[in-house]
Amino acid sequence: MPGSIVRPLRHLSNSAAHRCVAPARLGRFNVAFQVRSGVLCAGAVSLADIAEVVGTPTYVYSGDAIAERYQQLEQAFVGIPTQICYAVKANANLGVLRLMKALGAGFDIVSGGELQRAVAAGAVPESIIFSGVGKSVAEINLALKFGIGCFNVESAAELARLGEQAVLLGRRARVAVRVNPDVDAETHPYIATGLKRNKFGVNAAEALNLLLRAQRHPQLEARGVACHIGSQIGRVAPFLEALDRLLELVDALAAQGVRLEHIDIGGGFGVTYRDEAPFDPAQLAAMAETRLAARPQTLVIEPGRFLTANAGVLLTRVEYLKPSQEAGQPHFAVVDAAMNDLLRPALYQAWHPLQRVQPADAQAQTAAWDIVGPICESGDFLAQQRELALAPGDLLAIGAAGAYGMAQSSNYNSRGRPAEVLVQGGDFRVVRRREHINDQLALERLDADG
Ligand code: LLP
Repeated sequence: MPGSIVRPLRHLSNSAAHRCVAPARLGRFNVAFQVRSGVLCAGAVSLADIAEVVGTPTYVYSGDAIAERYQQLEQAFVGIPTQICYAVKANANLGVLRLMKALGAGFDIVSGGELQRAVAAGAVPESIIFSGVGKSVAEINLALKFGIGCFNVESAAELARLGEQAVLLGRRARVAVRVNPDVDAETHPYIATGLKRNKFGVNAAEALNLLLRAQRHPQLEARGVACHIGSQIGRVAPFLEALDRLLELVDALAAQGVRLEHIDIGGGFGVTYRDEAPFDPAQLAAMAETRLAARPQTLVIEPGRFLTANAGVLLTRVEYLKPSQEAGQPHFAVVDAAMNDLLRPALYQAWHPLQRVQPADAQAQTAAWDIVGPICESGDFLAQQRELALAPGDLLAIGAAGAYGMAQSSNYNSRGRPAEVLVQGGDFRVVRRREHINDQLALERLDADG
């Protein structure tokens, strides 16, 4: 094997190889993913068994880990009346949504499709909040017919459209206005949403006008103020800054006779991918409590990533090893998952933890591998420079993949999307079957046949 850092693992005993498979590498909160008898498991279920039965690539979610995270949030906010509206966009699988519903969550949606999913999962329409800058007439009408809990309106034009449709349909709509608080969330620029230059929300003065307008409208009810400043936020301070801006607005509205029912601070609570300090919801809750104690409004939060990211892994198998042919060049491990399955590394240069599912065998070759997929793009990587012992056929688990993983998957290169599996206790079930090429062809046959 060429290249100085590539060496066979022959000298390692099995037990030494086991030690490579440290559970901590899948993230601090990943207590649900533990090595048992040398094999990485989700709860009591071996990920190797899942791969055997379901194939790869496959997303595996731990229902117990999701529940634990949900309860952690509930506990943190126990001192303030709080509604948790799970951000469906993070992971929209019906099995996950049903679990969220069972845990007591409401839902934050951003499309007609997410609305249909939430309803299909048994959501009570009043527990649904509709966010997003571009709600179409069809989406607004669908939400009006279901009688959702609140529209988070993001512009004057949207408020006008909502008012017109509510009149046409003879329905009432509860409205919150999303404020752009111009707060720096200190996160990746693609997922910062609370700065003036971002497309989201309106400034405080405009929000005041819109809520007054809603209040005067025969079919609209001004119910709340909202914001969402970004995603993967590590510190509490930006949330408090945004909350303070919202509270000023609540007070300005109260002075004009508008009494709001809720204050929605959005989602964005960060998680640990690598070595980020975990976001502490209890600290946020304590600080929010001092600000909200004397107020009648309910707090709404819209967490997505916090609930699901660390509860999911993407299982993939090594197809080929392509060790470097020249010193200083990368060693590639080509796996059967790709950027169409998990886009985050390519799109945000995101770092995901990764580890073997089973101990390395004697043929494994140790190197700093770039883990790449079969897609014809150089950006098609899932991890880079990971020191691992690998052999073709080895199973890998890419951690912290439960949020914005499957949700951002595509059919690029005409690849079928992966299967999804939900593990609860000692059982697992396929909550979405692997896509077949016929699923793609079926959508195009009509055109082809004329
Ligand atoms: N509420 C609203 C209005 C949102 O736009 C979002 C996320 C959330 C709640 C949930 O945020 P979370 O708690 O999950 O941070 N694809 C990116 C993340 C995009 C987030 C977009 N909005 C990623 O993979 O990092």
